[in-house]
Amino acid sequence: MCGIFGLISKECLDIGEIALEGIKSLEYRGYDSCGIAFQNGGKLTVKKVSGKINDMQKKFNLETLSGHLAIAHTRWATHGAPTERNSHPHTDCTGDIALVHNGIIENFMELKDELKSKGHIFKSETDTEILPHLIEDFLKEGFNFKEAVIRTLKRCKGAYGIAVCYTKEPDVIIVARKESPIVIGIEEGKISYCASDIPAILPHTRSCYILEDDELAILQPGKAEFYNIQNSVNKIDKKPEYINWSVDDAKKNGYEHFMLKEIFEEPTAIRNTLKIEMKDFQIFAKHLLSADHIYITAAGTSYYAALAGKYMINKFLGKYIQGIECSEFQNNLIGALEKNSVILAVSQSGETADTIEAIRWAKKTQNDIKILSITNVVGSSLTRYSDHYIVTRAGPEIGVASTKTYVTQVIVLALIALEIAKLKKAISKEEIQKYYDALISTPDIIENFLDKNIHSVKNLVRNLEKNINYFFLARGISIATAKEGGLKLKEVACRFIEGYSAAHAKHGPISLVRKGFPIIFIAPPDETYERLVGNVMEFKARGGYIISVVSESDKKVTELSNVTIRIPQPSNKYFNLLTPITFIPALQLLAYYAALEHGLDPDKPLNLAKTVTVH
Ligand code: G6P
Repeated sequence: MCGIFGLISKECLDIGEIALEGIKSLEYRGYDSCGIAFQNGGKLTVKKVSGKINDMQKKFNLETLSGHLAIAHTRWATHGAPTERNSHPHTDCTGDIALVHNGIIENFMELKDELKSKGHIFKSETDTEILPHLIEDFLKEGFNFKEAVIRTLKRCKGAYGIAVCYTKEPDVIIVARKESPIVIGIEEGKISYCASDIPAILPHTRSCYILEDDELAILQPGKAEFYNIQNSVNKIDKKPEYINWSVDDAKKNGYEHFMLKEIFEEPTAIRNTLKIEMKDFQIFAKHLLSADHIYITAAGTSYYAALAGKYMINKFLGKYIQGIECSEFQNNLIGALEKNSVILAVSQSGETADTIEAIRWAKKTQNDIKILSITNVVGSSLTRYSDHYIVTRAGPEIGVASTKTYVTQVIVLALIALEIAKLKKAISKEEIQKYYDALISTPDIIENFLDKNIHSVKNLVRNLEKNINYFFLARGISIATAKEGGLKLKEVACRFIEGYSAAHAKHGPISLVRKGFPIIFIAPPDETYERLVGNVMEFKARGGYIISVVSESDKKVTELSNVTIRIPQPSNKYFNLLTPITFIPALQLLAYYAALEHGLDPDKPLNLAKTVTVH
């Protein structure tokens, strides 16, 4: 996710200041590097930094900049580290075109090779840079600016929200959208604005045009024309929408909190993560297949993603993977870390001090060790210390309690597991395809669940309001879901929880159960189901208040439960393996509404930090 802001005005304005304010209000979409392009008297100037917007402001003194056109960008790196070179805007060979982009051009490698063979020189490692060069090519062929942009976009696969300017048409900004948002605000007859999101426009106007997929707009001072990219001859008649949110509400896209917004972003985060190139998973799979010893390490939520992933990978790999919390990594392995080991490290921030320390210690102790990592942040410390890394595509996560990064971490681990199954021929091609089909349908399952279940989860929380202690119990792979779901409730609603194996809970925890004690059972219909039914009965017999999370067609656990949360998914082994992904939103929502019920701010849990950089 990145943030785009642009403006074009009849009069000369303090464009530097306005553009900076615009991208600052989009900083929640990304903040690892930024840049601005502005036009004055037919000359295009581009300024960029690797760092925050405030760094750019200080470095270039942009508040003093006046002019009539600017496009600006705040970046969340996906292709290429967050360096100055990779920051947007990107330009063509002539320096006449500048472009900012949010999204991913999936076929950029082929297009880049083609453009290079025609003599184009590239300065960055980004997918975005192919866009100004393609536009340059079409302009050279004699197409006008609008037609050159349209022809460029037609050659691209993937997602984009773009804003582009061209010195030879100094009174125009062209914007376009496919899957990545673009909004437009007009101060009639004076100024036109474009942005990735409404908060950037709101200080200037409440009347916004929201671009749909495949739409393009030509912005001129105080007016806009709209076209469809596939059929660009005739203008489209678009009506503006009146936005009455506050700027703060708008950043949360109308959601009350970032946590809720980020739970609802999970389907998109998964769909984007599913677009990561297969070759990355193959590299991981090959290293895991050839290793003698494999460890997986992480902290907090990432550790529970690791536990779910370890189970998925073990299933096809036929070798045991040891999961060790990063803070105990060295203590467990001192004197025991052997040659030909692989460490899989998982961290949404890529900066957790204990995770970094674990892998640095391992590298120092055995220099042939391979570090493979999964993170959500390109250029983070974890990526620098890793031999190979995969970056999840959850986009920036603002809520301190991880939600969408968790599901994307598990998706990546599931994809690695399937790649291993393929390489090892552990199961038939048909079976592998069935797992892929199930994986691809996880965003729809979550969307469907979120659409229909908010009210039932809210009601459940109201009935549980007085309880301080909870058990979250499960067997097999779902123990990871129980631990992670419980952790969410602990973090944001300040309840005491124990996330435990349902079988093992009779060796101690069960002694706490009295009438009405809430116990949440995670009960997909997998190979552990029948025994779990027995565990539910044990806790029910002692007066436990049973809440179960089950698949749609469940009967036995449902009959034993006081309340059931049903996840709309088929009951078969392909979907069962993916329940760490599809069942978790229910528990995240439960934690969210429990926090509200107790008057707590779910975005800022007490005593917790998003990134922990101390040991
Ligand atoms: C902190 C956060 C947790 C997170 C953990 C690990 O404790 O509050 O939400 O799961 O760090 O963070 P990482 O960035 O390594 O995934």
